[in-house]
Amino acid sequence: MGVLRCPTKRRQQESRQVLLFCFIFMGTMTTIQYCSDLHLEMPENAKWLRANPLIPKAELLVLAGDIIPFAELDLAQEFFSLVSDQFKTVYWLPGNHEYFGSDITERIGSFRESIRSNVILLNNQVEQLDGLALIFSTLWSHVSPAAEWEVSRAVTDYRNIQYGADRFRPLHSNQLHRDCRNFIAQAVGEATGSRIVVTHHVPTFMHYPKQFMGSPVNEAFATEMSDFIAASPIDAWIYGHHHQNSPEFLIGNTRMLTNQLGYVRRREYYGFRKEGVFTA
Ligand SMILES: [Fe+2]
Repeated sequence: MGVLRCPTKRRQQESRQVLLFCFIFMGTMTTIQYCSDLHLEMPENAKWLRANPLIPKAELLVLAGDIIPFAELDLAQEFFSLVSDQFKTVYWLPGNHEYFGSDITERIGSFRESIRSNVILLNNQVEQLDGLALIFSTLWSHVSPAAEWEVSRAVTDYRNIQYGADRFRPLHSNQLHRDCRNFIAQAVGEATGSRIVVTHHVPTFMHYPKQFMGSPVNEAFATEMSDFIAASPIDAWIYGHHHQNSPEFLIGNTRMLTNQLGYVRRREYYGFRKEGVFTA
């Protein structure tokens, strides 16, 4: 036998259910602030950031590489103290420039170090937060044999980074790229909740800056991973590296996000958001 209910009461009950659903749904959402390519080793960049500091809009800050070379860490102490005070947690993923002036084999593969109590330097690591997995990996890129000579000649990574007793070569960055891809694929498969991947290098040529199209050195910047991304359950992918900001776009259901400062002396900061955030 059915129960007759007053339509007004039913509507009230339904709206309470909607509110409860919204509350539960919103309760699992996390806002993340993100940026990359601050290049604090450059006096113009350090000066610009002092005049135009990040505007904290979240508890978490993700720094997606090219923040400061490890060899010049002293130049960024003021910046790290500031963000340590402003954010609950700061994650710093190395880009390629972090290794300039040092031996990359000293910080290779998976590592996690504290720069401050709440500022974490990490690579090939997963931070499993409440309903959210942050997957950090520099990524590097695949340089094909056809592009190897031109890339070695033109890309400064191969002049400024040491690899043990050797100089850094595409064969080394290709191996790092394979390791990072394997790490990301495994971490994405094992993670629970929303999956956010953070890389420095670019995981697709989709929406790639038009002015770089056809450049022989593009393989040092990006590798096409759109098939992997489209088939994955990754919610968002943060990247940097080419110093051009493009609006958010989708690959499958994955939000592709970038917020790069770039070289201030070349005015590459167009589109940089001091308060850039997204919610996952
Ligand atoms: Fe950069």
